[in-house]
Amino acid sequence: MAFAAALLLCALPAGSRPVSPDLNHCVDGGFTFKCCPRRSAKKIINFTPPPPYSPFRVRRPAHSLDPAAAANYSKAVAAMRALPPGHPWNFFQQSNVHCAYCSGGHRQTGANISLEFSLALTRILDHQIHGSWLFFPWHRAYLYFYERILGKLAGDPTFALPFWNWDHPAGMSIPAIYRRNSSSLYNPTRNPKALKFIDIGGCEPDASARPSLEKQRQCNLRVMHRQFAAASNSTELFLGLPYRAGGESFPGGGVLENVPHSPVHINTGSDMSRIRTAARDPLFFAHHANVDRLWAIWESIAGNGSSKAFKDPDFLNASFVFWDENMQRVRIRVRDCIDTRKQLNYHYEDVQIPWLNMTTEIERVVAGDRLRSRASASAVLGFSAVTVQVGRTAGAEGEKLVVGGIQFDRRERVWFDVYVGRAGGEALRATVRTAAGCFVNMEGGGAAGEGSAVSTELRLGITEFVEAIGAAGDDSLAVTLVPKIGGDRVTIGNIWIE
Ligand code: C2O
Repeated sequence: MAFAAALLLCALPAGSRPVSPDLNHCVDGGFTFKCCPRRSAKKIINFTPPPPYSPFRVRRPAHSLDPAAAANYSKAVAAMRALPPGHPWNFFQQSNVHCAYCSGGHRQTGANISLEFSLALTRILDHQIHGSWLFFPWHRAYLYFYERILGKLAGDPTFALPFWNWDHPAGMSIPAIYRRNSSSLYNPTRNPKALKFIDIGGCEPDASARPSLEKQRQCNLRVMHRQFAAASNSTELFLGLPYRAGGESFPGGGVLENVPHSPVHINTGSDMSRIRTAARDPLFFAHHANVDRLWAIWESIAGNGSSKAFKDPDFLNASFVFWDENMQRVRIRVRDCIDTRKQLNYHYEDVQIPWLNMTTEIERVVAGDRLRSRASASAVLGFSAVTVQVGRTAGAEGEKLVVGGIQFDRRERVWFDVYVGRAGGEALRATVRTAAGCFVNMEGGGAAGEGSAVSTELRLGITEFVEAIGAAGDDSLAVTLVPKIGGDRVTIGNIWIE
């Protein structure tokens, strides 16, 4: 294995630092959770794509899956659950794969040994697949192998995972096939509210209001539109920030990793809400199929035929290892999973995307919050909202709002909303504003102990929002942060526009 890794590295240009997991040293996080995979001496082979004429898989919406396909799926998962506990295909072993890659189980290998890196080795660097540009490709590869294992168990080479179509009004609740408690697709820890409605990003009515399902669904669609608007024209905003070998984990996830990804986890219920246990709920795979589908949609929007993903070799050569459907250990690189049709032989059924062409809604703030200077916001966020005045260049294009130096403990849940508003001239009052996005951290992530403290960033594309509030010509904006969960557990370093 060390030899294979060395070979892989030799082939890379000097100075490159793609991150990869050190499978020989998985660390369990104490007594409360153990998710390191069983050690295996089996040789790791390099991924080869399925031959172009081998069976193609079409992933369909879970809420409208035909009964035969649903029965096939639940039988395959039942077979997975019935495997011996140590079998790499066993349901819990499979869910532990996610846990080990998210809880500091795996450490990093994979950097060229430079002075800089040898120094870095004195720190413990976990291999973390959330909060960076690894988020989308890692989950794509994970589902790819999981799906093929299920296909093998079902004896169906065209077996495809269903996706949870929570971005369409017909899919905004836990799909029926996951609900029967006699089914292998059931998980007893779910939130009963999600049987009626899944809130994907802050669409829960306040306790006093009568929830109107129709209104809540519209709210979800607006959240989808807003998040895509904040991410659409930039690879970094969509996929997340660079993460290289020798670097600290969790530099900053993409806009959609925050929302809708994390709220869907949190609002589905207990297992799903904690990153370590999330993949113990079969809904995880339908949820992530939809997240993966959003990546494919992003690629297809205004695409000129070539991929919009990073061309950086540290992105493309980052690699992960999974058990495949032939009981082999396979190393797959990010470059192997950019295009689902051409490289991985699956795609998503085309369904209507009702949020795509919506417009941004603005909100009038009657007695606007008093603005503070930027410096005074770089303290504890606290429980109350804070509004700061942030300078910008009037008429700038492709503007990004950056909330930097966000510090918290990844074991805890944190959520704050971000608004951009007009600074409102001399009165220093926000008059008109719009929601621009949210920072959301699920709980139960990070390595044990020290490794769970992170400092990260939230970046939001604000062009559409600045136009909507009519501030394109202004030289400052009023940026409001509203803590929703764990406001006393998070501090902010700085806020700026670039
Ligand atoms: Cu790896 Cu949805 O989390």
